[in-house]
Amino acid sequence: MTEGQEASSEEVSESQIAVHWREEKYFFPPAKFIAQANAADPDIFEQFSEENFPECFRAYADLLSWDKYWHTTLDTSEAPFWKWFVGGKLNASYNCVDRHLATKGNKAAIIWVPEPESADPVAITYTELHRRVNEFAALLRDFCGVKTGDRVTLHMPMVPELPVAMLACARLGVIHSQVFGGFSGSACGGRIADSGSTILVTMDGYYRSGELIDHKVKADEAVEAARKEGAEVDKVLVWRRHAGEYASQTPMVEGRDFFVDEVLSDYRGQVVEPVSMPAEAPLFLMYTSGTTGRPKGCQHSTGGYMAYVTGTSKFYQDIHPDDTYWCMADIGWITGHSYIVYGPLSLGTTSVVYEGTPNYPDAGRPWRIAERLGVNIFHTSPTAIRMLRKVGPDEPKKYNYRFKHMTTVGEAIEPEVWRWYHEAVGKGEAVIVDTWWQTETGGFLGTTLPALGPMKPGSCGPMALGIYAVIYDEDGNVVEAGSGKAGNICIRNPWPGVFETVWGQPERFVDTYYKKYCKNPDSKDWHDWPYFAGDGAVQAADGYFRILGRVDDVINVAGHRLGTKELESSCLSVEEVAEAAAVPVVDDVRGRAVEMYISLKPGFEASKDIEAKITKAIETDIGKIARPKNIWIVPDMPKTRSGKIMRRVIASISNFTDVGDITTLANPEIVDGIRQQVRSTKEARGDAPRELTEEEKAEIKNFGTE
Ligand code: WT7
Repeated sequence: MTEGQEASSEEVSESQIAVHWREEKYFFPPAKFIAQANAADPDIFEQFSEENFPECFRAYADLLSWDKYWHTTLDTSEAPFWKWFVGGKLNASYNCVDRHLATKGNKAAIIWVPEPESADPVAITYTELHRRVNEFAALLRDFCGVKTGDRVTLHMPMVPELPVAMLACARLGVIHSQVFGGFSGSACGGRIADSGSTILVTMDGYYRSGELIDHKVKADEAVEAARKEGAEVDKVLVWRRHAGEYASQTPMVEGRDFFVDEVLSDYRGQVVEPVSMPAEAPLFLMYTSGTTGRPKGCQHSTGGYMAYVTGTSKFYQDIHPDDTYWCMADIGWITGHSYIVYGPLSLGTTSVVYEGTPNYPDAGRPWRIAERLGVNIFHTSPTAIRMLRKVGPDEPKKYNYRFKHMTTVGEAIEPEVWRWYHEAVGKGEAVIVDTWWQTETGGFLGTTLPALGPMKPGSCGPMALGIYAVIYDEDGNVVEAGSGKAGNICIRNPWPGVFETVWGQPERFVDTYYKKYCKNPDSKDWHDWPYFAGDGAVQAADGYFRILGRVDDVINVAGHRLGTKELESSCLSVEEVAEAAAVPVVDDVRGRAVEMYISLKPGFEASKDIEAKITKAIETDIGKIARPKNIWIVPDMPKTRSGKIMRRVIASISNFTDVGDITTLANPEIVDGIRQQVRSTKEARGDAPRELTEEEKAEIKNFGTE
């Protein structure tokens, strides 16, 4: 498609936009890597071919220890609520801890690196992990009275007590719901209420960028926010960052708040039998944003999820028991659940947990950690890579570490940034896997098998074993590989890691993920139920996919999805605000940043004070991660005749791209004024966006269109 054609049509959908695909050259895995890889025999592709589905996933499930073997690999009778390994029973905590005791009891399961560099790393062996998990499980059961199937909310920072709490819940068959520690108390409270938890596990404080942050204060806010939604928290369990010293300013509430270290002394040495759970029993909830304000509690299963993360950790992360593996993500996101805790520990490896920010006290910190601990597998996000490249491009070479393998996850990585990761961080000798997946998918969907497929910067690669993807246009026609056209990427088949439902919102589960391309809503055949991922993608002639970003009203900031509706409703809680619209702006470090457009109620004037209130509201309702880069208070929003805010128009203004056809607006005359306001301010601050790529332009142009 030519420039002219592209500009002409208002109705051009994401799927019709030509992608200006510049082919990148391949990089090949070094022979040394191939020689030791877990998956090095190309026969594996045959083993996972479509004819062998779903039985191929036996290979993943057989990596686990089952109390009872399953009879049905995939049950589709309640499509699209798939059930994997039906009839099987197992315990996730047993698989991550107990089964390693006999052969690896004295090996480090977790090496925890506190942020202050003056403090030494702490190694927790499998034996020690077993002791801690059991004692905390005993406390949860006997002190809190939680039972199998109950939900417990965790709002924990990056400390070993977090995996301990997760595994203790799993031991009891209790469903944990960890809320990212950086989220606000109010966001946590909403998730407590949604999940129906009566117990909150938190910590008094933690270190972040050199500061001991008061975290317990958020627990009080969370309890309050949950109460507003009609949910009562009975007990708040507070771990202490420094045992015996309380790091928070907020008082402990009598009868509700308890210091874990104090209560735990009653459970010293107790052993709790792992509860044998049906494969399809929920293991945890992980909340994510969607197009409506209410967050979605993605429910992950025990058997399918554990099988999938164990299998993918083995084949794609290439984890061997004697590796030292470091995923720098936060355990509070799905990446951390799957690829810091459950996958690596199930394989009996050593998983590094780092408390703080990667560039504290300087951009050499990650490489010093890698050098000191002998990390050989490293896993992070494009945002972190961009940031480390920006502030310390020459740091990696100062340190004597060697990675055999590196991962990138969370958003598309620019080829330039990829090459720095490969050359500088990987010293040219590490393989890279660019893994595309989602909170909902439990584990990797798109990625190369590191010893068996070449890498191509900027593309995640083909799909993982047993994942059969297709790109559909808006009408459900297949967009062919090599056509240069983008469309909606879907997975044609179920896989063991896919989430089971949206907690308490089964109709939303079906509507959001399966309705769009469902061939027959009464069908029990999985072929009729493609999974709609909500991402735009293009497939090159070699079969490699390039993910272009979300097609819904979600903004990916630093690899994490923020719902525009959540941002907007937070702004509307500020008294003076009449209307709010959130749009993405291209950001060189975080990928995308949020900009808010605001119109005020009659009688109010724009002021710094109102802007500050809006920022505060967002920080309180969601967290600092969502803080807008700019807030534009405008006289009116560009709207359609039916009154809908045209987000693509303001998104174009923010990104200095062509606003396209605005003749159908009810108020086209206001566009120029807004553009001038935004442009002149950004230019004066030296904050004008760079020239966007064609893909980015397409994303902005389609933002918020339905
Ligand atoms: C969205 C999922 C997967 C765990 C972290 C984020 C985007 C994710 C990639 C990648 C291009 C990517 C997609 C996806 N995304 N990985 N390798 N290349 N885009 O989990 O918060 O559920 O976000 O992140 O848009 O839908 P999440």
